[in-house]
Amino acid sequence: MRALVYDGPGKREWRETPDPRIIDETDAIIGVNTTTICGTDLHILKGDVPAVTPGRILGHEAVGIVEAVGSAVTTIRPGDRVLVSCISACGRCRYCREGMYGQCLGGGGWILGHLIDGTQAEYVRVPFADTSTFAIPAGVTDEEVLMLADIGPTGYEVGVLNGHVRPGDVVAVVGAGPIGLSAIMGAKLFSPAHVVAIDLADSRLEAAKRVGADVVVNATHDDALEVVRGLTDGLGADVAIEAVGVPGTFEQCAALVRPGGTVANVGVHGKPATLHLEDLWIKDVTITTGLVDTYSTPTLLRLLSSRQLDLGQLVTHHFHLDEFMDAYEVFANAADTQALKVVLTARS
Ligand SMILES: NC(=O)c1ccc[n+]([C@@H]2O[C@H](COP(=O)([O-])OP(=O)(O)OC[C@H]3O[C@@H](n4cnc5c(N)ncnc54)[C@H](O)[C@@H]3O)[C@@H](O)[C@H]2O)c1
Ligand SMILES: [Zn+2]
Ligand SMILES: [Zn+2]
Repeated sequence: MRALVYDGPGKREWRETPDPRIIDETDAIIGVNTTTICGTDLHILKGDVPAVTPGRILGHEAVGIVEAVGSAVTTIRPGDRVLVSCISACGRCRYCREGMYGQCLGGGGWILGHLIDGTQAEYVRVPFADTSTFAIPAGVTDEEVLMLADIGPTGYEVGVLNGHVRPGDVVAVVGAGPIGLSAIMGAKLFSPAHVVAIDLADSRLEAAKRVGADVVVNATHDDALEVVRGLTDGLGADVAIEAVGVPGTFEQCAALVRPGGTVANVGVHGKPATLHLEDLWIKDVTITTGLVDTYSTPTLLRLLSSRQLDLGQLVTHHFHLDEFMDAYEVFANAADTQALKVVLTARS
């Protein structure tokens, strides 16, 4: 088969590699119909994720058809159409039993395209297939479901649910990339009074408006704090969702939140951020953070199916799998190409 292989910092190639095969009895081999690129793949390519070693096939998001299953797999069969989630789950360890699959102790967690070969390939081996794939309801497209492999549950769980968004809230979302946009769509499910999107790029703010933000702030020339205070009688946002991953935006969220509110950090931080406890302690502020678990994926599948959620809007570019090198160029140059999610599909 062919796959997108990481060859060390800055190097990647779409090339011939051995076909994956069943190793453990709980494995499945999935023929990839459609896959995508995540911002995390760009971090890997910069060399920021040393656990990813040269020779690794990247990718942790896919929709495809089950080709083969190991002898212990009971809930999916060859021919089934499934979502391959960014998080694999052994289903048995303490964390899996508590729904915290991201922290799986039994060999799962974020492993695809990280510790084992991933989904940017014609075929992928998925361990713990019964508990790491999802059957797809009729009436939803592969492309829509693909958005639930990572960005859908990340924005919803780590942003909206950790942030305890409630009806009538003013929700500030800092960073309107795919994750921030997904958080905006998830927040809208709870009928907030206002969703304020804050970014530095007008194109991203336009996308934020399309997916439901009613107020947008370009922080290069406008003061987000002033805007949020203006909407909240000077109090601040009920929930501030951090979806960038730099110290400044975390600190900005801590400044934007009202007393008694929640800062939900979604961004992956490469550097320490300052926690201003001297200001926060007296404000009863809750701060949450986390790796996505994907416990919400079944809920999000139903919401897609019932047309209450349209994550397919985030797809901006289409390629075939053999155009992977070009797709990376387009995704990595989002400022020029205005890419949000690029979707790669097998040629039929
Ligand atoms: N917690 C998790 O499980 C999890 C999972 C996936 C991704 N993430 C993280 O979520 C974050 C967002 O992911 P993404 O794919 O949307 O990233 P992205 O880079 O596409 O989007 C980030 C957005 O933030 C904006 N931005 C940058 N600096 C800013 C500033 N100072 N003020 C306001 N906006 C600013 C950018 O213009 C961009 O639109 C990343 O840190 C990513 O690693 C976390
Ligand atoms: Zn990802
Ligand atoms: Zn587990």
